[in-house]
Amino acid sequence: MTTITLHPDFRLGPVDRRVFGSFVEHLGRCVYTGIYEPDHPTADEHGFRRDVADLTQELGATVLRYPGGNFVSNYVWEDAVGPVEQRKPFLDLAWRTVEPNLVGTDEFLQYCEREGIAPMMAVNLGTRGIEAAIALLEYCNGEAGTKWADLRIANGREEPYGVALWCLGNEMDGPWQIGHKDAHEYGRLAAATGRAMRQVDPSIELVACGSSSMMMDTFGEWERTVLSYCYDVVDHISMHAYYEELDGDRASFLGSATAMATFIDRVAASADAIGAERRSDKQITISFDEWNVWYLVSRFVGETNLPIQRDAPRIIEDVYSALDAVVVGDMLSTLINHADRVAVGCLAQLVNVIAPIMTEPGGPAWRQTTFHPFATAARLARGDALQVKVDTGTLTTARHGDVPAVTAAATVDPETGALALFVTNRTDVEQTVTLRTPGATARLDGGSAVLADHVGPREGREAAEAYGMVDALPVAQEGDALTLRLAPESWTAFTGSL
Ligand code: AHR
Repeated sequence: MTTITLHPDFRLGPVDRRVFGSFVEHLGRCVYTGIYEPDHPTADEHGFRRDVADLTQELGATVLRYPGGNFVSNYVWEDAVGPVEQRKPFLDLAWRTVEPNLVGTDEFLQYCEREGIAPMMAVNLGTRGIEAAIALLEYCNGEAGTKWADLRIANGREEPYGVALWCLGNEMDGPWQIGHKDAHEYGRLAAATGRAMRQVDPSIELVACGSSSMMMDTFGEWERTVLSYCYDVVDHISMHAYYEELDGDRASFLGSATAMATFIDRVAASADAIGAERRSDKQITISFDEWNVWYLVSRFVGETNLPIQRDAPRIIEDVYSALDAVVVGDMLSTLINHADRVAVGCLAQLVNVIAPIMTEPGGPAWRQTTFHPFATAARLARGDALQVKVDTGTLTTARHGDVPAVTAAATVDPETGALALFVTNRTDVEQTVTLRTPGATARLDGGSAVLADHVGPREGREAAEAYGMVDALPVAQEGDALTLRLAPESWTAFTGSL
């Protein structure tokens, strides 16, 4: 028996809508034949696929990180602005792909603007540094009258874009990263670049690279060293984490969100240790700017060793299962449960590359299984996250030890009193939950759920689109007592009021 207790006065704070972000990298078919395909029947006058844009709207992505990822660490942004016919293809060393430079900074930022999605730009701190970063920032945000802002205007864009969020490089702790650095080298460069960028535009928010995963040998030490240089300069530290089912270990995979929560707590602790030493009132928040299920160990074939490819090759196009959808839902609950610390989140990535949306060149676009929990949470999680107390049993896992059998997150909209309650049942049996709301009366109208099964990845459009949210098991309400039933291995979103 599980009990979930909510109290309307016990709030973590507002959920930053930017936690429902995603990621567009020049990788495989994320850009070309993903968001952009001028010959596609649904393409708009700018060459962007309307079918993909419509699904992105339905997904509810609030932020798009761009242009990488590993790609950014050897990117020359100047090659991808100005008249398209004068742009030269570029050899991207991260993915060993010829980048045609048909989509660059202007095309991407104008796409975001048309779609009402906030861009999050990354600067190249792999092969480049301060000069290229401040030039790009001036190109994006500068007023007329200086070289790079004037170049933007000459390229047809008068108004500054006002890009607010900026990543100082990508995964610079990773030996695979072009221009990989140790923590001292990166920390110094990030601090100097960030300071110079603030001279160009003091209003921006800056993200320093944290660890590429909690499993990196340098984890912890990296955060501590980098922030010892950057603490006063940056606003956020990044986190990246991907999870997968390994060797058929379903229980450990179902416990992934507990590992994600531990990772967040450890990064926050590392940042706070620096703040404490400095007696600083500032708190560094987290940009979880890459997270997802990715069959990195079990399916990734190491494209970086392949010959150079052209024409938007199919790279890491993971096909998701129903179980993956449940784990993604549970990870969204974890982000909501850390609303007091996580300011930005990006489901990596948006289209085709480990993505909730898939396309065929010239053909349809469709939703993968993982689309559904994301779209549901992005739509329902409004207002303040509550401190949720869950008294439940445990699920024993090989990788993460004992993890809670049931997890939950909740938000309340202070304007309307609308309640959203997200509950995961990680066990393979139905669970009954008593919902307690001392000091308040809660009402639940019902909900919808993603259910795991043993079918495996839903290959192709038909199989993927046959999957979706189903009605939650009925809620029993007797007086003030609410009883929920959770299907085995499920993630359920209930709505109501509090
Ligand atoms: O999202 C795919 C890749 O994963 C990104 O390019 C990189 O930052 C990470 O390792």
